[in-house]
Amino acid sequence: MALGVWSPSLIDVVLFVIAAVVVWKLERRRRRGWATGRLPPGSEGLPVVGETLQLIAAYKSENPEPFIDERVRRHGRLFTTHVFGERTVFSADPEFNRMVLGAEDRTVEGSYPSSLSTLLGTHSLVVMKGARHKRMHSLTLARLTSPTAIREAKLLLHIDRLVRRTLDSWASSSLVLLLDEAKKITFELTVKQLVSYDQRKWIESLRREYLLLINGFFSIPFPSFLSFTTYGRALKARRKVEEALKEVIRKRKLEKATTRFDVDVNESQNNKKKKDMLEELLEGEAEGMTDEAVVDFLLSLLVAGYETTSTIMTLAVKFLTDHPRALAQLREEQEGIRKKKKDEEAALDWDEYKSMPFTQCVINETLRVVNIIGGVFRRAKTELHFKGYTIPMGCKVFLSFRAVHLDNEYFDDARTFDPWRWQKNAAAQQVGGPTVYTPFGGGSRLCPGYELARVVISVFLHYLVTRFNWEEAEKDRLVFFPTTRTLKSYPINVRRREEEEGA
Ligand code: HEM
Repeated sequence: MALGVWSPSLIDVVLFVIAAVVVWKLERRRRRGWATGRLPPGSEGLPVVGETLQLIAAYKSENPEPFIDERVRRHGRLFTTHVFGERTVFSADPEFNRMVLGAEDRTVEGSYPSSLSTLLGTHSLVVMKGARHKRMHSLTLARLTSPTAIREAKLLLHIDRLVRRTLDSWASSSLVLLLDEAKKITFELTVKQLVSYDQRKWIESLRREYLLLINGFFSIPFPSFLSFTTYGRALKARRKVEEALKEVIRKRKLEKATTRFDVDVNESQNNKKKKDMLEELLEGEAEGMTDEAVVDFLLSLLVAGYETTSTIMTLAVKFLTDHPRALAQLREEQEGIRKKKKDEEAALDWDEYKSMPFTQCVINETLRVVNIIGGVFRRAKTELHFKGYTIPMGCKVFLSFRAVHLDNEYFDDARTFDPWRWQKNAAAQQVGGPTVYTPFGGGSRLCPGYELARVVISVFLHYLVTRFNWEEAEKDRLVFFPTTRTLKSYPINVRRREEEEGA
């Protein structure tokens, strides 16, 4: 062998191949972001199922908090687990939550299971990403749910009418299933806002399909040909809702085409007409919104505001029933507003809505304790670094709002319903501000319905407490799974106050 010429032996070749494989694997892992950093501590449980069964078991019980509580105690406010088939970093840390909420589309993105995207449709706001999401989010806020939109669209007037009509239909001394009544109100209201329809029969049949659709969100996504499963029924219901909405779109397009002939004559009149969401979307058709895209978008708005608001309405009443001192104070505030009105039949106006400080404390506290949206999932688009930990690219994270809201570190005696805490700490009420209170999320996915939901709940509470006395007809327990913290129907016996006090 000539000096300087290296002739590799078999062992050299084997070692070289092993080294090359190791380097390649490390590089691949590094590129995918799984290599270097230290994941937050935790346990990934059993193979495949991970800790999913423990999570589900906790949420089926009356007290789901221990799943997070125990792990926070063992590992800290940021911990790793494995649920629903994936390694997931759970956060009960408000600083981390804020960081991630503010990083949407840059270092993280929304992440929902594909079964949910199938039911909601790829053009729904919750599934959309990037610039398109930003544009449609702003449109929703500007046209549908911002304080200006609520005032300009005379929405308050409409909410007032709807709530009064519902409460007027309650006979004195009757049994009312409060959650069902609240759901009817929020569904009807959203349909009116979206497509200006107020035919109750049509709305009620649409709502029935909706219920089936929503059930599908919390079911196992069996293949669609198994139409007898909950998921199969949900897919079928989606098709029916889609057809109904497409029919509305078709009619509206026809109307628009006809009115276009008269546009010169009626131009000024048309300009004054208030646009509903459908009108906005159809005008955006030039930007490529197909009928399917419009349907997805409307459908997801209906889903987002319906269950959430109605459940909070019902639970606020449950908390008031359980806390007579809070009910007395809220009633005094609302009676004050009623008595000041020159015309008792006039609808509540914006200034009156803004002069309900204690009612807002009750709503804040209900949202805090109940946490109807317990938290949100995101996926890391790049490595995330936080307090010495590295969360790899592609990893799922769950930001638990519930864990922060129920943490004694941030709220005194956090697991007790105490609306008065908000009188002491008004700054914490700023939605989306630098707070630990995030019932409506934050960042570019901040719930666009945050003001609308408050308005609906406030108007409802106003008429309920000024017109009725009630007591629970039977105990209704809180259910956490599969949806979130809610009641089954909350039956109450109502009595008209004027009759009772007059008697
Ligand atoms: C008490 C009632 C409500 C609560 C607690 C609530 C809570 C939330 C939360 C936490 C999010 C953030 C989800 C995320 O970051 O992934 C969200 C998103 C959303 N909410 Fe609400 N919401 C309520 C009522 C409403 C209403 C009345 C509407 C209106 C029509 C609405 C429409 C939406 C929409 C469209 C999104 C998706 C936003 C996006 O991804 O850009 N919500 N909501």
